[in-house]
Amino acid sequence: MASIVTYKYIKQNPDIMEYIRRADKALEALGYTEHSFAHVERVAATSALILESLGFDERTVELARIASIMHDIGNVINRIDHAQSGAVMAFRLLDNLHMPASEICSIISAIGNHDEGTGQPLDPISAALIIGDKTDVRRSRVRNTDLLTFDIHDRVNYAVEVSKVYFNEKKTSIILDLQIDTEISSVLEYFEIFMNRMLLCRRASEFLGVQFEMIINGSKIL
Ligand SMILES: [Fe+2]
Ligand SMILES: [Fe+2]
Repeated sequence: MASIVTYKYIKQNPDIMEYIRRADKALEALGYTEHSFAHVERVAATSALILESLGFDERTVELARIASIMHDIGNVINRIDHAQSGAVMAFRLLDNLHMPASEICSIISAIGNHDEGTGQPLDPISAALIIGDKTDVRRSRVRNTDLLTFDIHDRVNYAVEVSKVYFNEKKTSIILDLQIDTEISSVLEYFEIFMNRMLLCRRASEFLGVQFEMIINGSKIL
């Protein structure tokens, strides 16, 4: 029998929490930035905000939250193709919770399409997850505490002092508004790392019928 699986329920599921924790540990071992609860909860908040603001129904918003919190678990298997392996893991986990197939489809499509290498927005949930994920840049994602050994990924994340995602007043644009310390990383360096992600955000926003804009240190860049 099908059951209603909530975001709250997923967050209290010890197995799913273990996969999130271990996926992040695997990335820590590889020297990646933080992909743990701070990341996935922030992605959930952003994707929900986007769909709520655009008037999507409550269940669609809830499914976006669930897809968001589970989107990086595939990293426990391997960083490469983690979107696809994570989608297969989520399929089994959610099927075991008796989530209806129609809902599982939305979630695994979103998880399987969130990475900029292979992902494409397919529906509102996948589009919202892409934007939530790719806009999470912030100083607290950097684990390396030694500035002297920072690589470019550490630098671009560490340089971001304030990062906000919001809609313009008419709700025709999603705006990523960053405050960057250009002593740590230049705007150019930022783009070197994030260009593909920003282009994917643009495609995802277009899919939702809105524009994607970027403001860095008060100037409109995109
Ligand atoms: Fe990911
Ligand atoms: Fe992510």
